[in-house]
Amino acid sequence: MKYIIANWKMSIDDAKIDKFLNTLKTQVSSKNVVCGVATPFVYINKVLPTLSQYHWLVGAQNVSFAESGAYTGEISAKMLREQGVNFCIVGHSERRVMFGETDEIVNTKIQRLLEQNLTPLLCIGETLEQHEQNKTNLVLKKQLQSDLADIKYVDKLIIAYEPVWAIGTGKSASTKDIQQNILFIKQTLGKMYGDKSQDITVLYGGSVNPKNAQSIFLLNCVDGALVGGASLDCQKFLDIVHSMQ
Ligand code: PGA
Repeated sequence: MKYIIANWKMSIDDAKIDKFLNTLKTQVSSKNVVCGVATPFVYINKVLPTLSQYHWLVGAQNVSFAESGAYTGEISAKMLREQGVNFCIVGHSERRVMFGETDEIVNTKIQRLLEQNLTPLLCIGETLEQHEQNKTNLVLKKQLQSDLADIKYVDKLIIAYEPVWAIGTGKSASTKDIQQNILFIKQTLGKMYGDKSQDITVLYGGSVNPKNAQSIFLLNCVDGALVGGASLDCQKFLDIVHSMQ
């Protein structure tokens, strides 16, 4: 199955969501692609009725590393499950860079999500400096091994390969780089989990838009996309979804 997931980040508001959902209601949904939206926590209940009506997944953009207790401002995996969330982004580079989310924290968050039967959407990727120094494979391997340390339930896992330098820049990675790096990720997962790793979905993320989506989706190894900026406009997002078929 292919997945196209929207990451609204903190770039959305009530009016934009209303517009998004109204546009969605005028469209025929696609059977070949699973769509989903990672929304800020406060809008989960607003988007859920419409998205589930269209069989779209509802996701969160963050989760606490802790199970419960005195963690002011945090949201637990159990709370997400109780609200009807299906998946949650972890390890996004914006959280790694701006909020100090280490591989160890990412690993704990993945464990919390799996305990609640939620799908972790793990983002990994190299910085521009690492890219230019040809360290991409090293970085991806280290992130996979640390973020997934002691994680056994691999069938419930989505990985997004997101080169940090391609996020929000309008400069997507080349199809050659995407193919090479996603194949490397799949190979590494194969070494970690054996045959079971074939169930793991690997998406590409980083400046995916209606113009470049088709050439990215033509790559056999790409199981879909994580879309930031172009996912705020429902029509643009659906254009990306339709270029998958
Ligand atoms: P972008 O964001 O599509 O705006 O580059 C992708 C992401 O951060 O997941």
